[in-house]
Amino acid sequence: MRNKIIAGNWKMNMDLTGSIELIEELSIELKYVQKCDVVFCPPFPLLLPVKEAMKNTRFELGAQNMFWEDKGAYTGEVSANMLLSVGCNYVILGHSERRKYFNETNETVNKRVQKALLAGLKPIVCIGETLEERESEQTRSVIENQLKYDLQGFCRDDVVNLILAYEPIWAIGTGKTATPDQAVEVHQFIRDLLSKLYDEELAQIVRIQYGGSVNNANARDLLGRSDIDGALVGGASLKAQQFAKIVEAGELNS
Ligand code: PGA
Repeated sequence: MRNKIIAGNWKMNMDLTGSIELIEELSIELKYVQKCDVVFCPPFPLLLPVKEAMKNTRFELGAQNMFWEDKGAYTGEVSANMLLSVGCNYVILGHSERRKYFNETNETVNKRVQKALLAGLKPIVCIGETLEERESEQTRSVIENQLKYDLQGFCRDDVVNLILAYEPIWAIGTGKTATPDQAVEVHQFIRDLLSKLYDEELAQIVRIQYGGSVNNANARDLLGRSDIDGALVGGASLKAQQFAKIVEAGELNS
């Protein structure tokens, strides 16, 4: 059975004091968690202090992006080794906000994923359709295209080490969540694709998170489904009590 993985994507939110307070509160609240993986993805300047604040916990650290080069004159970028050196073991890649506001493409996402895997980071690779694409029944072709290009050139041993996040863009930050049935349908489609591209055993190993307005009210229904292996949580990950409830649903179903 795939244990659930709940990741909090703080995006460009939080400051030093607020982030430490949140981690301290959640480390008490979530002490009982044993099976569900819990990952925090703060902005770059908060990675190290957050890592220190989670010292005596099972929590893990992730970044929200990285560049594929090792070092050099790339103002504003960070490398995989920099992330490893401050204690990250996950990195979110290909988030729709990166694709939309920072012109990331399947090609650049692929390069980042490749570098992350090579460095030993676990990429959380985000894919998902816009509302327009869903309404014109293109969801499957969009997902297939993203998955094929984002994972191009990767062998089975690479893919075992990544997490996929299905994030319908129309559900991100909008308060509109995909219903568990809608999410499961796409998760199963992704698993079928993995089976075709690799093999059925691999398709059963890879964890697929759902992301898009996950909160304390809908987490139980979503995470109660065996095809939904976790959640990538934006807004609700900034509030200790809400995030704790989502992790509770993950633990219950792990
Ligand atoms: P949201 O964001 O939970 O605020 O919708 C999810 C995400 O973008 O990862």
